[in-house]
Amino acid sequence: MRCCGILLGFSCLSSAASSYPRSSKVESCEEFSSSVRGTAAANTLNATYAPAHSLNISGILNEFPLCRLFGEIHYHANRSVVFELWLPDTSSYNSRFLVVGNGGMAGTILESDMMQGLNDGYAVAGGDSGHRASDNNGGNGEPGVYLPYLHDRDQVTAWIRDSIAYFTPAARELTTTFYRTAPRHSYYQGCSTGGAQGMALAEFHEHLFDGIVAGCPGNWYSHLALSFLWNSQVTKGPGFLPQSALSLITNAVLAECDLIDGVADGVLENPLLCHFDITSLQCPSSTSNSSTCLTSAQMEAAQKICAGPVDTRDNTSVYPGFSFGSETEWLYQEVALADAFSIPILQNMAFDDLSYDESDFNWGTDIDVVNDKVGSLIDANSPNLMFFKESGAKLLMYQSWADPYNAAIWPIHYHKQVEETFNGDIGDWFRLFMIPGGGHCGAASNYPQVPATWHALKAVVQWVETGVPPCEMLGTNPTDESLSHKTSKLCPWPRTAKYQGGSSDDWNSYVCTY
Ligand SMILES: *[C@@H]1O[C@H](CO)[C@@H](O)[C@H](O)[C@H]1NC(C)=O
Ligand SMILES: *[C@@H]1O[C@H](CO)[C@@H](O)[C@H](O)[C@H]1NC(C)=O
Ligand SMILES: *[C@@H]1O[C@H](CO)[C@@H](O)[C@H](O)[C@H]1NC(C)=O
Ligand SMILES: *[C@@H]1O[C@H](CO)[C@@H](O)[C@H](O)[C@H]1NC(C)=O
Ligand SMILES: *[C@@H]1O[C@H](CO)[C@@H](O)[C@H](O)[C@H]1NC(C)=O
Repeated sequence: MRCCGILLGFSCLSSAASSYPRSSKVESCEEFSSSVRGTAAANTLNATYAPAHSLNISGILNEFPLCRLFGEIHYHANRSVVFELWLPDTSSYNSRFLVVGNGGMAGTILESDMMQGLNDGYAVAGGDSGHRASDNNGGNGEPGVYLPYLHDRDQVTAWIRDSIAYFTPAARELTTTFYRTAPRHSYYQGCSTGGAQGMALAEFHEHLFDGIVAGCPGNWYSHLALSFLWNSQVTKGPGFLPQSALSLITNAVLAECDLIDGVADGVLENPLLCHFDITSLQCPSSTSNSSTCLTSAQMEAAQKICAGPVDTRDNTSVYPGFSFGSETEWLYQEVALADAFSIPILQNMAFDDLSYDESDFNWGTDIDVVNDKVGSLIDANSPNLMFFKESGAKLLMYQSWADPYNAAIWPIHYHKQVEETFNGDIGDWFRLFMIPGGGHCGAASNYPQVPATWHALKAVVQWVETGVPPCEMLGTNPTDESLSHKTSKLCPWPRTAKYQGGSSDDWNSYVCTY
């Protein structure tokens, strides 16, 4: 019989606890797992010893031997989160506990993120967010995107708000038992939906982690989904922007604004300083279809994507729009994202009607319906992070300027709202780093020269463990391998990197200033 974790409390089977595990050697992984089965942490499903270089997750191998453990926590009579916990051998363990988040609609454990944590020496855990990819309820056919049962309130709130909190105490306790000492610190790292999960941890579960990294956060998820719908609607028909039009806009933007930051690197350091006039690309009236200009319908569509959705009742913003330099990957907005996210969310959650036609969406009163039925369950966008601040934990948010999913301006607005809520400086516990030329949680296709690995976890660890807030963040590993030496300096907003002379490929040639 399994302990029912959350439902029955952690003490339900403690009388059955077997003797303290004899060994913390990873080779004794199975023995460890059976010795803790039914104890406080409970619900271990299986455990296997993996020698160094024996696991290959998306091309990355484990550098250290590890104990790989699967566990399960029930959060409702017939609902559970399955999690994995990877425990590196004692000599490789850095004495820190790390949890990684999910992406998209989740349903799978992000083992590739776990592998990176493991190879940095963390005991690392990740969960499936409380619904299984294999339970996909008919979904939308998008590979890698698996719907939670959107009718099921428990599964919906587990998905973004609570699933990490369901398994984290158990995974940390198993880590403590294994090494016979508690980890020095606990960290969380996630991007996209994982970034939203990170913000949910800060807002609703403030005591679980000492440091949180929330990347490209969809933490105003309900309105993010509305922005996908808006962008697909404004580009339907004659407003459609084919790849050639998108590239045309970005190339024109870069031609005009690349040098504002003093470095000819094909990247805007701060797109807000670029005042590109898109009407300069309008086709002469004689031309109706050309790859060198935009029709008026296309121009209008691009302007609407940059403005973001508005509430027709009072013209207020529903979600921010996209920034200059991000255009080349907008095809996601035009076709895929509304199908993958907005439509299932509206059909299942907002209107309870699987035949609901999204073209009927009323950009006035229906926004209230979405706030009430969807936002109340999945958003984590309150600027009042008082409990988190008082917990003493640190929050590092990052956002890429060329992210084709999340409008880069949203995290800037949110950060400002938090600042206003706390009457000023929040930099000793919450910092936002903006990433010029970065894409959604990694490289942007148009910017292969931009370092696409951002060392946010390292920055938050230093912050937590020294108390000194990060004044800069390192970027490495551009996708263009001929530039593998290139590093970037990423700055806490509103500071940006100013070139000081020397090699423009070296982060030491820049300082973060206002
Ligand atoms: C361990 O449990 C997980 C989750 O149920 C399952 O996917 C995996 O195949 C199991 N592994 C072994 C070795 O039994
Ligand atoms: C790891 O897996 C990838 C496929 O994901 C494969 O291309 C690569 O050769 C594998 N590496 C090793 C060392 O087995
Ligand atoms: C889980 O329980 C609910 C009622 O609490 C029921 O409606 C649902 O069908 C059950 N799901 C499964 C997969 O057993
Ligand atoms: C514009 O031309 C492209 C190819 O040249 C074609 O695929 C597209 O349908 C045309 N669009 C319009 C609106 O005529
Ligand atoms: C909203 O803006 C549009 C275009 O600028 C304008 O025509 C309309 O009157 C405005 N509506 C309201 C309610 O302010």
